[in-house]
Amino acid sequence: MRRLLAGPKRVARLHAMRLSVVHALTDLPNQIAEFVDVFNDAFGQAGASGVPFGDRLPHHEQRQGFVMIAGHADDSDELVGFAYGYTGSKGQWWTDWVTGQVPAQIAATWLGGHFEVCEIAVRTAFQRQGNGRTLMTALLASTDRHRALLTTASNNEPARALYSSMDWSLLAEGLSDDYCLYGKILPGPEASK
Ligand SMILES: CC(C)(COP(=O)(O)OP(=O)(O)OC[C@H]1O[C@@H](n2cnc3c(N)ncnc32)[C@H](O)[C@@H]1OP(=O)(O)O)[C@@H](O)C(=O)NCCC(=O)NCCS
Repeated sequence: MRRLLAGPKRVARLHAMRLSVVHALTDLPNQIAEFVDVFNDAFGQAGASGVPFGDRLPHHEQRQGFVMIAGHADDSDELVGFAYGYTGSKGQWWTDWVTGQVPAQIAATWLGGHFEVCEIAVRTAFQRQGNGRTLMTALLASTDRHRALLTTASNNEPARALYSSMDWSLLAEGLSDDYCLYGKILPGPEASK
């Protein structure tokens, strides 16, 4: 039997979600406030450390291959959740941080030119209703990259359960701050690194 983890209970009524593909944050101040609100609600205290999300997002939006899937509630226009990523390359903080900590063969096979899933967040009231899976599916369908990568905290059981349920492979554990690395091969052709 599947173990149920602590988390919001399923509600009887499932919210329908309208997806948008975002390549640029045009109305920057308002959009960022909305995304930060969802981020803070979804992550709670776990998202409070490091560079504030509202400062990271505009920086990430400038990266090659940036794409975000935003999901709004059909009935209220409320932002339910979002997921975004970009093309990761050597010389970027995350790629170099992972490269320095995983076996050389994994670094050589996976890192550089990959699609880096940077954030996925679903407002707590909308969790356990399939929204995270919908956002991730749409995000992976929106990149032409062949290899997707992400890291998550080892104790983030909902996120790890989501990735496992979507056939992400656990590539490495025990990265600093107790993070683990997941990878997934996508249908697109392999591109040069
Ligand atoms: C991780 C997160 C995005 C999942 O979003 P979600 O909308 O609740 O996920 P879904 O409803 O689509 O769940 C899909 C599958 O993931 C797994 N899953 C998700 N949350 C789970 C939980 N709390 N316990 C057990 N399994 C869970 C299940 O396999 C689920 O399938 P099922 O409902 O058919 O059993 C959400 O919990 C979240 O925003 N967390 C805070 C932010 C975060 O940690 N982001 C990831 C950082 S790396």
